Amino acid sequence: MYYSDEIVEEVRARNDIVEVVSGYVRLQKKGGRHWGLCPFHNEKSASFSVNGDLQVYHCFGCGAGGNVYTFVMNYENYSFPEAVKMLAERAGVALPEESGSEGARQRESRRARLLEVNKAAAKFFYYQLRSPHGEIGYRYLKKRELSDETMHRFGLGFAGKNGAYLVQYLRERGFEDELIQEAGLASHSEKYGLNSQFWNRVMYPIQDINNRVIGFGGRVMGDGEPKYLNSPETPIFDKRRNLYGLNYARKARSGNIILCEGYMDVIAMHQEGFTQAVASLGTAFTAEQAALLRRYTETVLLAYDSDGAGVKAALRAIGILREAGLIGKVINMQPYKDPDEFMKGLGREAFEERIRQAENSFFFEVRILQGQFDMDDPEEKTRFHREIAKKLCEFSEDVERDNYLQAVAEKYYIGIDNLRRLVSSYARGTGLAKPIYRPKSGIQKKKGPEEGARQSQRLLITWISTEPGLYGRIKKYISAADFTVEIYRRVAERLFSELEEGRANPAGIISMFEDSEEQKEAAALFSAMLPQLDSRQEREKAFQEILLSVKKNSYEHYISHMGADMGALARAIEGKKALEELAGTHISLD
Ligand code: UTP
Ligand code: MN
Repeated sequence: MYYSDEIVEEVRARNDIVEVVSGYVRLQKKGGRHWGLCPFHNEKSASFSVNGDLQVYHCFGCGAGGNVYTFVMNYENYSFPEAVKMLAERAGVALPEESGSEGARQRESRRARLLEVNKAAAKFFYYQLRSPHGEIGYRYLKKRELSDETMHRFGLGFAGKNGAYLVQYLRERGFEDELIQEAGLASHSEKYGLNSQFWNRVMYPIQDINNRVIGFGGRVMGDGEPKYLNSPETPIFDKRRNLYGLNYARKARSGNIILCEGYMDVIAMHQEGFTQAVASLGTAFTAEQAALLRRYTETVLLAYDSDGAGVKAALRAIGILREAGLIGKVINMQPYKDPDEFMKGLGREAFEERIRQAENSFFFEVRILQGQFDMDDPEEKTRFHREIAKKLCEFSEDVERDNYLQAVAEKYYIGIDNLRRLVSSYARGTGLAKPIYRPKSGIQKKKGPEEGARQSQRLLITWISTEPGLYGRIKKYISAADFTVEIYRRVAERLFSELEEGRANPAGIISMFEDSEEQKEAAALFSAMLPQLDSRQEREKAFQEILLSVKKNSYEHYISHMGADMGALARAIEGKKALEELAGTHISLD
């Protein structure tokens, strides 16, 4: 679906970026802007800024940025047309009807088609489960004590023994063979032609946070292999960035999220009222999933299997949660294997009690560690204490480290001073006393002479956009050609021509870039931190300096390009003149 520039701009203008972002991120007003924790990378102090005047956002930590469309697309994982639709609805703007549908259909993105074919397949499986063909599946789920309501809520279905039915059903609805294969729903063989990938399995549609079916998990009836078959990764199915059940869990308001291993665990927990349960998608828990969870909670309770593999997976997950700045706790599932079995065995109230008793993830790690040493052997015991000391060094904050040190010393009867000495010797030896290095998820920009020039150009653009009246006073000294970074120049060109017409629209300018990296750069241009100065004189001086610096950089740039570029000489001469003139000119800021 294509929308005209006018409608795109109208929808954008009617959705205030501060209001929209506030729906997702807690923002605080400070110095003319709104600040919050960036939803696109892990951080503990706010470097994510939203500028209501210019209608742009920018993160000083990871470089994310753009306008209200970029935000919604990145946060909700929407395509551009989806973002337009959602924001139009939000603001009550009527969008033109889908027109010229054959042409439009073809142009429709691959993503949209993949979502459609998955939705159709989910419907097919859903009805199969409730038809005579699906009776074994239905009986199986009943035996696992799922109510009809639960099966309905999770859209559970069944893939029957005859795999040709699904393909026939999808073809009849206009889905091409190639698309059906790309979605991982069917594969081609000499013998059977195009045939369903899922066969004799109960089907769990996997939904994203907006309830769209992005893939499937299918559990075999009985003991076949593999027990669970999952859709392959596709443009809409990224296993690292989605979690099963999060579409419901995000609304649970329980103050925590329970992370478990299996689809059945999630479903069994939701059925008992623990609607905050989620699971990873047949792969190990990832940092991306931790970042996703961090949007909804501070505390993650691990409900992993109680066997050796489950403990190992839990230890891995704990590290990832800690790195993401989340509080991790471990729920004891004994004597049961997993949450599903626990629910059946002991039920809701017992599980609530287990939640209350959930073990701090550090103590869990130490307890598991202890199991590897023989506490009756002094040598082994010493090694255990050394391992604890090493673990303590992972806490970068002194207070936190010391609190844990005291607690663990008490719990394991270790002399507190001895343990302190051990910790400081490790800290010295490994350099760990310093805060440990946490790689930021964004690109760290190099700082060099280049960066200084870029910074002045950003400051100038931000300043002029914030006080558009300034443009008239400086336009004889400056032009878009003074912006030596390609993308900055394009922004300046557009901004200056808008200013000529007396209307500047930074957020609209961002829309002219299609590439998201370019949008980020453009947003950064409108988000520089202007110097906070009280007196007018100081402000004027600062502005003059920025202007001079941009002009000087441009002059040097053209001087160095004189050999190659015919226009450069003229520019350099013009620049020299402007510089001299500027140096003796007072530009007033009122
Ligand atoms: P489990 O083997 O613990 O399954 O796998 P479970 O949830 O207890 O299953 P039931 O109760 O026997 O039905 C946990 C998760 O690991 C993934 C699935 O996501 C499953 O939910 N898995 C497991 C696979 O992807 N493939 C497999 O073959 C097995
Ligand atoms: Mn199970």
